[in-house]
Amino acid sequence: MKTIFSGIQPTGNVTLGNYIGAMKQFVDLQNDYDCYFCIVDQHAITQPQDRLQLRKSIKSLAALYLAVGLDPEKATLFIQSEVPAHAQAGWMMQCVAYIGELERMTQFKDKSAGKEAVSAGLLTYPPLMAADILLYKTDLVPVGEDQKQHLELTRDLAERFNKKYNDIFTVPEVRIPKIGARIMSLADPTKKMSKSDPNQKAFITLLDDPKVIEKKIKSAVTDSEGIVKFDKENKPGVSNLLSIFSILSGISIEDLEKKYEGKGYGDFKADTAAAVINALQPIQEKYYSLVESDELDEILDRGAERANAQAGKMIKKMESAMGLGRKRK
Ligand code: AQP
Repeated sequence: MKTIFSGIQPTGNVTLGNYIGAMKQFVDLQNDYDCYFCIVDQHAITQPQDRLQLRKSIKSLAALYLAVGLDPEKATLFIQSEVPAHAQAGWMMQCVAYIGELERMTQFKDKSAGKEAVSAGLLTYPPLMAADILLYKTDLVPVGEDQKQHLELTRDLAERFNKKYNDIFTVPEVRIPKIGARIMSLADPTKKMSKSDPNQKAFITLLDDPKVIEKKIKSAVTDSEGIVKFDKENKPGVSNLLSIFSILSGISIEDLEKKYEGKGYGDFKADTAAAVINALQPIQEKYYSLVESDELDEILDRGAERANAQAGKMIKKMESAMGLGRKRK
């Protein structure tokens, strides 16, 4: 069976972008692949975090993974910092990566822009991400479009390691969804929807109240044309709502365009909000039943155990390939 790995940072409330771009794919794939899904808390500390809030977000993200439909019997769900092999392999991959290629990463440029103090971890986050993936002999990585460049770097680092040391890594493929690979901000549809956006109106979280969702979609930035048409270039706001509506309702974008022809944006926005509320209601119910449960801790304990066993084997191969430690008689 082929293997899948993907991670999400516990850096705030999970957004509709994270769900559509990443989590929804995970659920679809868990039946056909050996899956590892990770709460990448070590990535979260590349930027300042409140300690108590981070711990809360870790548990919350774990509950959300399950609430969207992940089955812990089929997939391994675990917290990155509970599997020390990630930090160990991350260091080794940092020593394989070049500073120049890390400085060229657009996410590093975006997240460091205008900041006085930028952590070294923000620069070296992609080799840690490469380690996360390569530890499990991953064949496929389902992510949103914003992670494409990091995945290309992961492939380069795997090939470089295989050539320089020993051919131990599987070079993974990326899987980006056809629609919804980049859900845009509701406040500025030229920017991606991001959970750490300081503007609360820019994103919908999976735990937003129905009333809040209605308000956010009603005030979503569109244009003054009043025509419901998919045209990313000229109508980014309407196209973004069409993508969200289509994915969550299962109605094609063409059928939605026909349905709202000549009707302006009022009904279209109200029905988009209803589709979001409808999709999120069962997720929210399951989330609240799980988040404080002992079951959640047991699932995470089992996940860490399985991930430790798997990743531990690869660490030994990596250390041996690089000549670390001692050869035992
Ligand atoms: N707007 C988006 N549309 C589609 N997919 C998205 N993803 C993120 N935003 C969108 C995908 O969600 C997964 C988890 O992302 P992450 O938490 O690791 O970090 P990120 O990509 O940096 O996401 P955020 O929401 O923007 O977090 P912050 O604000 O903390 O940086 C990834 O597969 C990502 O592609």
